[in-house]
Amino acid sequence: IRKIPLFQDLTDEELLSISALFFERKYKKNAIIFFEEDPGEELFVIKSGTVKIYKIDNTKQITLALFRSGDFFGEMSIMQKEGTRSANAETLEPSIVFTLKRSTFYEYVGRSPSLCLRLLEVTMNRLRRANEQIHDLTFLDVRTRILKAVHQLSMEYGETKLGSIQITVKLTHQEIANMVGTVRESVTKVLQELQDDRIISIQNKQIRIENMDGLKRKIVY
Ligand code: CMP
Repeated sequence: IRKIPLFQDLTDEELLSISALFFERKYKKNAIIFFEEDPGEELFVIKSGTVKIYKIDNTKQITLALFRSGDFFGEMSIMQKEGTRSANAETLEPSIVFTLKRSTFYEYVGRSPSLCLRLLEVTMNRLRRANEQIHDLTFLDVRTRILKAVHQLSMEYGETKLGSIQITVKLTHQEIANMVGTVRESVTKVLQELQDDRIISIQNKQIRIENMDGLKRKIVY
């Protein structure tokens, strides 16, 4: 729990007492954790796996965020009176999460300025990213948005292996399309172009960046 950035400034004592209040829950792949509009009753911290936060409109989805080990989510509705979930949460891989009851979290946030500051810091970062997502959806064309998503995924989830960078989260073309507000076919086309140009390779559904400079050169605003 010390490794969870949100809790890293807590004293040993606080950490010990808060960890006793965690519940552990396991989810299979593609399990719904909660739906938008559900009442918010707990905070989630990811121990392992990947969780997708998304909104849905009939059949179309827009992914707002991907969270992995050490990340938390579900804080928005529990910080509001009678708050409901602002989006859906679903696992993309088998995942283990810790949950913390709303009242417990609230109490700790009120008691610990360092926890409060961490929460604000992460929230500001998420707001900044949301602004960027608005910008990109408004001003960038689909191809650029896809190229940018591949670059961003490699920065966030990339692992360097033998000179190339492997994106460690397995995403279908449809999932990438949901992240940038487009259709699967457009993602397939751009990824094919990147493979033809030997900028990426794809193995076992994982994307590897073989030529990062080449990828960056293609992203022109
Ligand atoms: P909550 O509203 O309780 O449930 C959905 C959660 O998704 C929300 O809390 C946040 O933790 C997270 N979330 C919602 N929108 C975004 C966003 N734009 N960026 C990152 N996380 C978000």
